[in-house]
Amino acid sequence: MKYSDKILNTPSSFIRNILKVTDAPDVISFAGGLPNPISFPIDEMQQSINHAIEENGAKLFQYSTTEGYLPLRQYIAEKYKTDYGLEFDSEDILITTGSQQALQLLSQVLLNNGEGIVMEEPGYLGAIQAFSLAEPQFHSVALEEDGLNAEQLEQTLAENDNIKFIYTVPNFHNPTGITYSREKREAIYEVVKKYDVVLVEDDPYGELRWTGEKLPYIGAGRLENSVLLGSFSKIVTPGMRLGFVATKNKELMHHMNTVKQATDLHTNIFSQMIIYDYLVNNDLASHVNKIINLYETQANAMLNAIAKYFPSSVKHTNPEGGMFIWVTLEDGISALDFFQKAMEEKVAFVPGDPFYTNKTNVNTLRLNYTNSSPDIIEEGIKRLGKILYAISANKQMV
Ligand SMILES: Cc1ncc(COP(=O)(O)O)c(C=O)c1O
Repeated sequence: MKYSDKILNTPSSFIRNILKVTDAPDVISFAGGLPNPISFPIDEMQQSINHAIEENGAKLFQYSTTEGYLPLRQYIAEKYKTDYGLEFDSEDILITTGSQQALQLLSQVLLNNGEGIVMEEPGYLGAIQAFSLAEPQFHSVALEEDGLNAEQLEQTLAENDNIKFIYTVPNFHNPTGITYSREKREAIYEVVKKYDVVLVEDDPYGELRWTGEKLPYIGAGRLENSVLLGSFSKIVTPGMRLGFVATKNKELMHHMNTVKQATDLHTNIFSQMIIYDYLVNNDLASHVNKIINLYETQANAMLNAIAKYFPSSVKHTNPEGGMFIWVTLEDGISALDFFQKAMEEKVAFVPGDPFYTNKTNVNTLRLNYTNSSPDIIEEGIKRLGKILYAISANKQMV
């Protein structure tokens, strides 16, 4: 059988593949990126399911509009106003099947084969995968501790007029956990405003901040070609698959709607009505606070264990929120080799390789802390530390 180049050139998700082995009950897994299930508001959802059916009857089970459930779109527009002072109307919001779908729709709307995307290096592997289906040219720009390298971004945009969009995750980035600084956001805005490109700010983790000040978006509210992506996955539940696109660019929104129609007609209306009922009848802020407190405790447990058990040559990020810590090993140590050894000791993480579009055998890796208790986190990091000391000692003997 012959398949399309598109599918043959799209990597299958490394994480989804390794989760099959790392999910065994005796493995301590820092590999997934899943929200902690104890954070799901199951009882409240149960009430909302009953309530939404009582209120809307057959509408929950019928086809619906491509743009999404109007009250939910109004709620999202209003929330952007309250949280960020951004002037969105309901028509600026498109509900998608998770923000993951928005990535795919965007690349279909914007890219011809071989056209360019600026990607953070390292970047979200689900975005690399979604964009790969459009057969783009990836232009990597280094992600520093405070965000994209603005000079390199400028140079990349100046030298490549095939670039259609820039993809960023400005808050509690996946995979690194870093947050763009206020200064970096300004610097990037100053660069991007000179070019005819779309700036995508993908923000599924933004509400999960436990320290530091909340920062304005880079382009939203001031760049004509700004697109924000949001999601209910990390603050309510991922299984309902509800994400959204927000843009004031009417033409872009029109095309997004057309692709959405062609893809799946509309997002699951059952989920949309239930989540809307949940949002208006519960205190979302206090629910999100519980998640934040949980993740802060887990992140601190991991950071403390890293300080105690890892060799001092190992570097790592210090997230102010979100779900991930990014680790950089000594030069020359392969994260893939480390992963094999770690699996022998029944500890899993994601080696850095799949987060790059142009590098392999890297010395970086992603740790997720949201799915283990502080005790288990300490035990897992202790085992990893032991392996790292052994690798280091071996290296010195060679
Ligand atoms: C940066 C980023 N964007 C998008 C997604 C997809 O989220 P959703 O569940 O809304 O599709 C994820 C999920 O982990 C993510 O980390």
